[in-house]
Amino acid sequence: MLSKEENEILTRVGPGTLMGDLLRRYWTPACLSSELPDSDSDPIRVRLLGENLIAFRDTNGKVGLIQNNCPHRGASLFFGRNEESGLRCVYHGWKFSVDGTCVDMPNEPAESDFKAKVKAVAYPTHESGGIVWTYMGPESTITPFRDFGSDSLPQDQWRVGKQLSTCNWVQGMEGNLDSAHISYLHQYFAIKDIPDDGTDRPGYPSNLMSMKFWRHDRAPRFEMVDEWYGYRYAAVRTTPNGHKHIRVNAYIVPWGTAVASIPFGGGQGLFVPIDDENCFRYFIAMQPVVNPRGLGGQGYASDPNWPYGVFGGAGRGTIARTLTAENDYLIDREKQRKVSYSGIDDFVSQDLMVTESMGAIFDRSNERLGTTDVPIIRMRRILIDAAKGLAQGQQPPALAGVEGHDFRNIRAVEKILEPGESWQMLGTWDDPAVQESMAALQAH
Ligand code: FES
Ligand SMILES: [Fe+2]
Repeated sequence: MLSKEENEILTRVGPGTLMGDLLRRYWTPACLSSELPDSDSDPIRVRLLGENLIAFRDTNGKVGLIQNNCPHRGASLFFGRNEESGLRCVYHGWKFSVDGTCVDMPNEPAESDFKAKVKAVAYPTHESGGIVWTYMGPESTITPFRDFGSDSLPQDQWRVGKQLSTCNWVQGMEGNLDSAHISYLHQYFAIKDIPDDGTDRPGYPSNLMSMKFWRHDRAPRFEMVDEWYGYRYAAVRTTPNGHKHIRVNAYIVPWGTAVASIPFGGGQGLFVPIDDENCFRYFIAMQPVVNPRGLGGQGYASDPNWPYGVFGGAGRGTIARTLTAENDYLIDREKQRKVSYSGIDDFVSQDLMVTESMGAIFDRSNERLGTTDVPIIRMRRILIDAAKGLAQGQQPPALAGVEGHDFRNIRAVEKILEPGESWQMLGTWDDPAVQESMAALQAH
């Protein structure tokens, strides 16, 4: 539960808000590279942190992200002509380069230097992993790009998709950090009939057995460790054979999540605010995961044996929504009785249903939090403290350029532990499964 005042701090992201100022200190996804396919291709609208912007790729392939309203008299630059290294407003012909410089002002006398005095708001961009990232904070506090592993990844190996969600970004993110709900929301009754394939023993279970464990133990215990980037925590379940099964998820300040997969995940889910009441959920895979032992899954790569079309099935690009609040997510009550707990077809739509049905910004002074909500409480506290701290001159957490901050070493894992084995090292460079995967990739 939060006070109404703290709920406002947590959820509001516009310019000049506490959280808005904090979020502007981080490189943030603005759009997909594929939305700006070629030099001089069509400009697109981007709404980000409550600001209306226009993105365009100029003649040299550089991406500009500039204010929507032309600095002259406000016509939308969405309707501009993307030509010869700049975007030209079609009202009176003023033209702007990717950094917002006014490079032409044809309706003023040739001798006028007025154009030197005009600059459009423009944010720097960096393309990596199929995403156009931007930095919207003060120029003086810009930090290096946070490389989650995509900067060195060839284009044919990255996967990225994004999907609109009509609720506040924190509300969406709370779902990813909630390891308890998989025992309910994502349950299919047929899971109980999955035959035991022998992987209910220390080591990596198969994906299907893992779902059995979620169903078997529905009240997980949580072990949490604060990290420089946020936290990681293990949800501990007991398997039918009495083993200790863990799913380790990570929270990466401010809007990043890594959700457990077998043997470890090379991807993240990012919850990027469009404004206070809408967000884009980005699904990114920045580290290829090879699992030479052949057990379990393949991180976020698609696994043909995985029947429920999770992340791996999401594919690339902007993912259309057919199941929405307007059509009640096409809930099928007969299926809800006989097939699945929710009666809603795919995993992600099940998540969207629960988080959007709270209303765009839920009033958290009305909640009643229990023991499995600890990761959510912690994430909110980190964000609220960081936002308040920034206003008092403190450095935001989890920025690049600080010694020891290796963003490629943040991974979520799932495993059945040996008696006495600790989970903290799993998913890091020290984990034999990570080392095997890297070696197998190199041998590829
Ligand atoms: S409004 Fe854009 S050039 Fe006049
Ligand atoms: Fe979920």
